Amino acid sequence: MAKITLSVIKADVGGIVGHSDVHPDLMKSASNYLAEHGKNLLIDYYVTHVGDDLELIMTHNQGVDSSEIHKLAWDAFMEATEVARQLKLYGAGQDLLEDSFSGNIKGLGPGVAEMEFEERPSEPVVIFMADKTEPGAWNLPLYKIFADPFNTAGLVIDPKMHQGFDFEVHDLIENKKVVFHCPEEIYDMLVFIGAPGRYCIKSVYSRTLNEIAATSSTQRLNLMAGRYVGKDDPVCIVRCQSGMPAVGEVLEPFSKPHLVSGWMRGSHHGPLMPCSEKASTPTRFDGPPRVVALGFQLCNGKLVGPQDYFADVAYDRARQKANEIADYMRSLGPFEPHRLSLDELEYTTMPQVMEKLAQRLVPIE
Ligand code: F6R
Ligand code: MG
Ligand code: MG
Repeated sequence: MAKITLSVIKADVGGIVGHSDVHPDLMKSASNYLAEHGKNLLIDYYVTHVGDDLELIMTHNQGVDSSEIHKLAWDAFMEATEVARQLKLYGAGQDLLEDSFSGNIKGLGPGVAEMEFEERPSEPVVIFMADKTEPGAWNLPLYKIFADPFNTAGLVIDPKMHQGFDFEVHDLIENKKVVFHCPEEIYDMLVFIGAPGRYCIKSVYSRTLNEIAATSSTQRLNLMAGRYVGKDDPVCIVRCQSGMPAVGEVLEPFSKPHLVSGWMRGSHHGPLMPCSEKASTPTRFDGPPRVVALGFQLCNGKLVGPQDYFADVAYDRARQKANEIADYMRSLGPFEPHRLSLDELEYTTMPQVMEKLAQRLVPIE
């Protein structure tokens, strides 16, 4: 059976109003573009948004890193950018760092999470998409889903999960990667992934099934651009059930909002609030950071769904908790740890302020 590739490619190509939402015309434009130009390339697609990020969910047989699929996504974003420009939307074309496509969309601005696998007799997947945060936001939930038996009962109970999972962790600063075999290496791994601004879980593999279980986008917009552009607003794909974590185990970490970086000007920590696609409109202080989870059943590559999981009342308390945490964090104003630490502000104001004060900075006697 031909392998299926699931590609989630996203970009912020303009917001309404400010950085809070995607105009329906942009979604229509991207949808029409994929329908027309993806006719012979895609099996299926679903266009959505989280906050000001336009999300293209696509299935095909071209494998990961296919230049044809990446070009299709790039051109759909360019087309949507045109619409954003006509409407004078805010930040039109913001995440498209280059004028033209050059083989692979990675490195050009958009975020990419892709995996190729043989579709199982039943293939449930959950796609997480976040706004106002960075790829490291997935570290804590992915750890809980695939390595914490207090979150995932299957690690104890399911013989197909008991052997654990391998985690591929990327160092986004040094451009290196390492694979941790868990559970035996969880303490070593936590030293790294506890620093989500630098080390990110790229992919997770089932050791029993020898199959990819999860993958995330690890593009860091500001590191690519060398200046502040916007936040990465990452995506993550998780396969569920039958030797993978159950859907409920995959969603469970989001019932306790954890602190992530990326709120207001990409420069503040705040709670990651689970919400429905409709409620994914960051407002308060341009936030708090949001995460949406859409579930699909794959059927010969067709995307059956979605199920908008965080629309469920079971996440009301998480939202309430996130609002309480947001109150507290906001009360700190421009002080750390609400504001990010200086080294993380490197691409924003700090160098300019430093330059201005350079003459007045004198040694302490
Ligand atoms: C964008 C974001 C926002 C902006 C802020 C300032 O994803 O997080 O908080 O950083 O609204 O935007 P500019 O600099 O475009 O006026
Ligand atoms: Mg934006
Ligand atoms: Mg965004």
